[in-house]
Amino acid sequence: MNELNVVVDSAKAAFEQASTPAALENAKAMFLGKSGRITELMKGMAALPVDEKKSRGAAINIAKQAIEAALNGRRQALADAELQVQLQAEALDVTLPGRQRGQGGLHPVSLTLERIEAIFGSMGFDVAEGPEIEADWFNFTALNTPEDHPARSMHDTFYVEGGYLLRTHTSPVQVRHAVQHVKKHRALIDSGGAMPEIRVIVPGRTYRVDSDATHSPMFHQCEGLWIGENMSFKDLKVVFTDFCRTFFENDDLVLRFRPSFFPFTEPSAEIDIQFPSGPLAGRWLEVAGSGQVHPNVVRNMGLDPEKYIGFAFGMGPDRLTMLRYGVNDLRLFFDGDIRFLSQFQ
Ligand code: DAH
Repeated sequence: MNELNVVVDSAKAAFEQASTPAALENAKAMFLGKSGRITELMKGMAALPVDEKKSRGAAINIAKQAIEAALNGRRQALADAELQVQLQAEALDVTLPGRQRGQGGLHPVSLTLERIEAIFGSMGFDVAEGPEIEADWFNFTALNTPEDHPARSMHDTFYVEGGYLLRTHTSPVQVRHAVQHVKKHRALIDSGGAMPEIRVIVPGRTYRVDSDATHSPMFHQCEGLWIGENMSFKDLKVVFTDFCRTFFENDDLVLRFRPSFFPFTEPSAEIDIQFPSGPLAGRWLEVAGSGQVHPNVVRNMGLDPEKYIGFAFGMGPDRLTMLRYGVNDLRLFFDGDIRFLSQFQ
């Protein structure tokens, strides 16, 4: 092997051994630097006769190019290796599941309220609202409730200063809503024309001093009111029966209108339902109070009770939710435990 091949091979070996870019640059100096082997071989040419110089020079150049090619190859290899190390250090596992935001959903009682609104909406009922801090007059007096009625006692009602209280039922909105309706159609009513019927439901929060497995100081009610000129108890029965069967998705549900008493209706009835099958089969379950609106209340609405009659009902959406989903403790609805609530999504 000639001398130049030996130089090229030793350069290649030195470059292979260099394991970092800095070591590689040192190795380069040994062969291509100012006092490197190639430079020295070039200098050695000075002593050669002219005819040998040319071929010697060409041979040294070939060796130099071979060394430079080896150097560049090694540089690239070290750069690639460094990149690999870096890539591995910064590796992302794109298959890891992302951090997800938990999906929210409606509260079971809200689902019930939406359902009630949809069903009564399909029967032509509007939805109205009223204040939760209510005047004594709307909550009791306007609803024909006498001064000494037990519901007016401190044990039952949360009183607020100045003749106000936390409404104990949604019934006060009957009068509030009817008064607005009558105001809107006053001219028509006074001229003896036919007032458009009042057909409304009032879902909302209500409050009573009460707390156990089936009572909460804050609970929900949904009032219903239908006032017109040619109404009868039959209308109440049809509408409420239809509602219950649709709500519970059970056409064989049986309803019972049991005579009862409320100051604001006469006659009055509690409405009980009975499931034909399932865990609650055979039991009468009370779901609402109802009745024909008392003439005094019709008068407080600004209407003539000789001409206008109607019926009202008040039901408990919390209880309807318990019955629909088979929940036995009302407090679960208000604890805010996500393990319970997420079961309704
Ligand atoms: N307001 C009654 C209650 O809270 C429920 C009720 C009974 C509402 C009869 C009515 C009704 O509209 O006609 O116990």
